[in-house]
Amino acid sequence: MKIMIVGGGGREHAILEKLRENPRIEKFYALPGNGGMQQHAECVPIRATDLDAIVAFATENAIDFAVIGPDDPLIAGVCDRLRAAGVRCFGPSKAAAAIEGSKSFSKNLMRKYGIPTADYAVFDRATEAYAYLAGANYPVVIKADGPALGKGVIIANDRQEAFQAVHAMMEEGAFGTSGSRVVVEEFLVGNEASVLAFTDGDTLIPMISALDHKRALDGDKGLNTGGMGALAPNPFYTLEMARTCMEMIFLPTIRAMSAEGRPFSGCLFFGLMLTKNGPKVIEYNCRFGDPETQAVLPLLETDLLEIMLAIDEGRLGEVPVRFRGGSACCVVLASGGYPGAYQTGVEISLGDAERAENVFLYHAGTKIEQDRLVTAGGRVLGVTALGVDARAARYAAYAVVERIHFDNAFYRRDIGARAIATAEQGEQKIDG
Ligand code: AMP
Ligand code: GLY
Repeated sequence: MKIMIVGGGGREHAILEKLRENPRIEKFYALPGNGGMQQHAECVPIRATDLDAIVAFATENAIDFAVIGPDDPLIAGVCDRLRAAGVRCFGPSKAAAAIEGSKSFSKNLMRKYGIPTADYAVFDRATEAYAYLAGANYPVVIKADGPALGKGVIIANDRQEAFQAVHAMMEEGAFGTSGSRVVVEEFLVGNEASVLAFTDGDTLIPMISALDHKRALDGDKGLNTGGMGALAPNPFYTLEMARTCMEMIFLPTIRAMSAEGRPFSGCLFFGLMLTKNGPKVIEYNCRFGDPETQAVLPLLETDLLEIMLAIDEGRLGEVPVRFRGGSACCVVLASGGYPGAYQTGVEISLGDAERAENVFLYHAGTKIEQDRLVTAGGRVLGVTALGVDARAARYAAYAVVERIHFDNAFYRRDIGARAIATAEQGEQKIDG
């Protein structure tokens, strides 16, 4: 089989490495891929947002199956276009991808079907948003309705910050048309959890839970990033919560999507806040998360292509999806300055990191330039280590991270630390 992977981040590299375990695949293409994917895939310089070029490439090269990583092409309808052209693929239709593409759509869906989420109001006019915010309790969360590269969420601590955010989104067009409608949400308190789930619209199988680390700096300080590391399973996400989520959130969501005539097929990502009143949905994504995927897929035992083919054929219920025990910890190495401005083209030395056992080096912003591996993005590499438990996985990941060098590299030193300490305190309480 010939497989095409759209995207070029750590998530797509992790998907490629997992798919490689299937012996039926003869050839991989990556659009555009990266310096690590290039080892096993032919990288083609087509951007993930160039739908015409993606569809043309797939048909001209007789691609048997396409896997779409990023949100933008899914929200723009790349899977409908591919399927119409006779190319099988992994990912939701445009109608189903609205669950990520429009926050007002997903909030209204949750309200209509009684799925727990933060209280909210939707505004299409700035004057109405200001009037509402004048009487709101703070903090509140202000979100641009459409996709905004992960930057469209502002936690406003007071009225002034809230007005500023609305002004920037609705009157200055800071996020283009994505911000012409805003959602104002109740601020939720709790630990977060990410749960990715395989679904064909009928059957839903959650993967191992994960904990993302969105802020750039240790102690959850600094700016929001695409994610600086992940731990799987998430120590805060108990078995009881998993049961509640399945019953109150996961299954109701796919049933709601089908009832709305938008059956969801692919990977549905639940961003959850574990509040004292139970788990609530912060956001849905219509795709694998990054870096969560880099921690979750190494724990998957079942063949990923078989799962994806079954989803495409609507027979996920026939596939026994299994995960191995133990934990995985992914630490992201980033370019100095990220998520702000940073330098690229900096030479990377992997040392002997590639030979470490039970460790996966996932490339994100890397490329090969005249036989040298150099940086090409903000998030450069994800180092995932497996361990018998979270502590062992974390220790193993950092042991390898320390062997990788490039000028101005930085990474968080506390990936998983607070969650592991909290879980261990909980165990002591139970033991004592
Ligand atoms: P998002 O871009 O939707 O993933 O949101 C970014 C981050 O903002 C989330 O991971 C949360 O940490 C935070 N956030 C979003 N919505 C809320 C909310 N209603 N209450 C508290 N924090 C939130
Ligand atoms: N890690 C969060 C996301 O992929 O959106």
